[in-house]
Amino acid sequence: MRTVSTAAELRQALPREGVGFVPTMGYLHRGHLALVERARRENPFVVVSIFVNPLQFGPGEDYHRYPRDLARDQALLEAAGVDLLFAPAVEEMYPKGFATKVAVEGPLTALWEGAVRPGHFQGVATVVARLFLLVRPQRAYFGEKDYQQLLVVRKMVQDLGFPLEVVGVPTVREEDGLALSSRNVYLSPETRGKAPVLYRALLAIREAAQGGRGVAEALEAGEGVLAGVPEFRPDYLAVVHPETLLPLSRWVPGARALVAGRFPEVRLIDNLEVYP
Ligand code: PAF
Repeated sequence: MRTVSTAAELRQALPREGVGFVPTMGYLHRGHLALVERARRENPFVVVSIFVNPLQFGPGEDYHRYPRDLARDQALLEAAGVDLLFAPAVEEMYPKGFATKVAVEGPLTALWEGAVRPGHFQGVATVVARLFLLVRPQRAYFGEKDYQQLLVVRKMVQDLGFPLEVVGVPTVREEDGLALSSRNVYLSPETRGKAPVLYRALLAIREAAQGGRGVAEALEAGEGVLAGVPEFRPDYLAVVHPETLLPLSRWVPGARALVAGRFPEVRLIDNLEVYP
C-alpha cells in the first residue's frame, strides 16, 4: 500500500478506472474494515482516505480531540489489501482562501442530525464532493450507521451527476449491540455498559412493529427503554420514511428508526430498519 498526502501525488498514483473508494476520518474499526472488504471484492483498485474534516464539526464539538492514529490505521489498511491511502493535511484540502461550500438543502438535511448539528451536512457534502473529484472513483462506500449522511451523499451525487455509484454497507455492532464508532473510545467503562440502550430502543420499536402495534405505540416502547437510562439525554428518537426521512404515522416498507443523544462524555447515534 502506498500513502500519499497531496493531490498531485494522488493523481499520479491513480489508475484510469476501476477505483473503489472508502472515505474515512481514520481511527479505524471493524465497521470501516467492512467497507474496505466490500470495496476490495467489487473493485480492482481500492483507495481509502483519512481526513478529519474541520468543516463538518461545529463550534464546541470534538474536532481537536477527535482520535487520530495514522500508523495504526496504515497497518490495518495494508493488512486489508488497500492499494492507496490518501491522507492529506487540512491546507491541501482547503488551501488558504478556499471559499466554496456544497449544500444539499431541504428535508433531508433540515431534520435530525441536520437540526442538532447546523452546518454539519454542508461540511460533509463539501469534503465528499472534493474527495470524489480528486479520487474519481467508480464506487464509493459509506456505512449505514450514519444513515442520514448516506442519503445526503446519494442526493448530492444524483443532483450534481457524479459518475459513480454510492454503496451503503450495514452497520457493524459489538456483541451487545453497540454500533461501532471511532467515538466509542471516549466512553468510560460505566457508560460503555449503558451505551447499548440506543440499540435496545431500536429493537423495542422493531419488536412492537412485528407484534402488530402502530407507529405511535412502537415509539412509546422505544422511549420507555431510553427512559430506563437517565444518563442518556436523547436528541431524538423517530420512525421515518427510509428515503425522505420524514416522520411516519403509519408503517411503510423499509421504515427506519433513528436515535441520537448524549451521554456525559460522548454523543452517540444509531438507526435500524424496523419494518421489512
Ligand atoms: O463518515 C465519515 O467518517 C465522514 O463523515 C466522511 C464521510 C469521511 C466525510 O468526512
